[in-house]
This record gives sequence, C-alpha cells and structure tokens, in this order.
Amino acid sequence: MRSPGNGLARFGLAGLVKCANFACCEKIMKKKIGVLLSGRGSNFEALAEAVAKERLPNAEIALVLSNRENAPGLDRARERGIAARAIPSKGLEREAYDKLVVAALQEKSVDLVCLAGYMRLISPYFVAEFPNRILNIHPSLLPAFPGLEAQRQALEHGAKITGCTVHFVDENLDAGPIVMQAAVRIEDADTVESLSERILREEHRIYAESVSIVLEGRFRMEGQRVITSGEKV
Ligand code: GRF
Repeated sequence: MRSPGNGLARFGLAGLVKCANFACCEKIMKKKIGVLLSGRGSNFEALAEAVAKERLPNAEIALVLSNRENAPGLDRARERGIAARAIPSKGLEREAYDKLVVAALQEKSVDLVCLAGYMRLISPYFVAEFPNRILNIHPSLLPAFPGLEAQRQALEHGAKITGCTVHFVDENLDAGPIVMQAAVRIEDADTVESLSERILREEHRIYAESVSIVLEGRFRMEGQRVITSGEKV
C-alpha cells in the first residue's frame, strides 16, 4: 500500500517545510480509492457517503470505472463530482482489458481498489498489481453461495441465515481472505427482493467499515485469516 511517505517524497522535503497550509498537506496524505462497478452503484454511494461524512477521514474516491458505459453508478459518481469513466471490454482478452483498467487506476495513484457490483472476473495480472489491495463485497456469508444471485441461492437452498462478506480479492472467485461479515436472518415470507434489500443495508455498513480497517492498516494477515482486533500495523 502506498504509504504517506511516498506522497511526501513526491513533493520533496523542501516543499513540505515551505508549505504552511495544513489542509494542503492533509490532502497530499489522503489515501486514494478506485471503485469498479457495472451497475447501479449503491455500494459506491455508501463509500462516497462515508468519505463525505468523514467516517473515512483520510480517504478520497479518486476514480470510478465501469466496463459498461451505461452503468447508473457512473452517473451517480459524476453527480458527486467524482471522476468516472467507462472502459468497454468488447473484443478484448481478459488480461489485455485488465491492463487498461490497471493503467487507469495507477494513473490516479490508487491505493485501494473496491469492487462494488463489478460483473467481471479479474485476471491474476490485476491481482498481482494490487496485492492485498483489492476488496470485494459479496451478498452471502462466504464460502456459502459464491457466484451470481447469491441471495436467490440462499433462499432456494432453505438457509435460515445468510448475509454479506467483504473480502480481499485473490485469483479465485469469491474466495479471498475475509475482512468482515454481517449476518441476516431469512424470514419465511422473504422474497429475493425483500432479502436482498435487508442484505444491502448491511453491505453498505460493513463495506465502509472494512475500507476504514484496510486503509488505516488495522489488520494483520495470518494465512487466510485477517485479524482486525489488534494494534495498528
Ligand atoms: C451487491 O449486492 C453486491 O454485493 C454485489 O453486487 C451488488 C451491487 O449492488 N457484488 P450496487 O451496484 O452496489 O448497488
């Protein structure tokens, strides 16, 4: 993860000494989030709200990217004055496409990539460019119900409890180290829609909290486990 030191190095020590404007220096040290989405973007909005309300005080959303030009999430970002662009994937191999996405993220010096309803598998190349710096939100308690329509899978399986998971992204689908989970009870009267709505509320809550944990380094890895209870590292 890019450390604040990198930002200072970029501006030079002399520049820092000369700079008496604290707000300016604070801005230099802000961690940059890149959001990838394909759809409506409610999780992006939850992160943007957390930044706006200073629940993510030292962060900014530097870029919202989509593989779909008509993704409503792009408009939501532009309405907030956040840089947003589509990179259409048509006709490109997975890695060739990911090279374009990675270049766009690196151009904005993104520290942390947040997948938020991004309907593409990402390549090992992409993962290697952002080691332990890509998060995803999934609407089930992983490892149960990975893949598409997780809420429907849980309902049709007859599960009594499901929920959502924020995890680091690795080369395997919905399988990386888990940062946070929240449980949601499945009621007898639930439909996919009613269940999805309750899960989504929890998604918005734990995604912002997980981003805070990761950006502030309030975790350590022990194999597949993400230990979040300890000291800042
Ligand atoms: C969410 O349910 C998320 O868990 C899943 O895709 C959906 C995206 O919703 N990965 P939104 O675009 O953030 O509203």
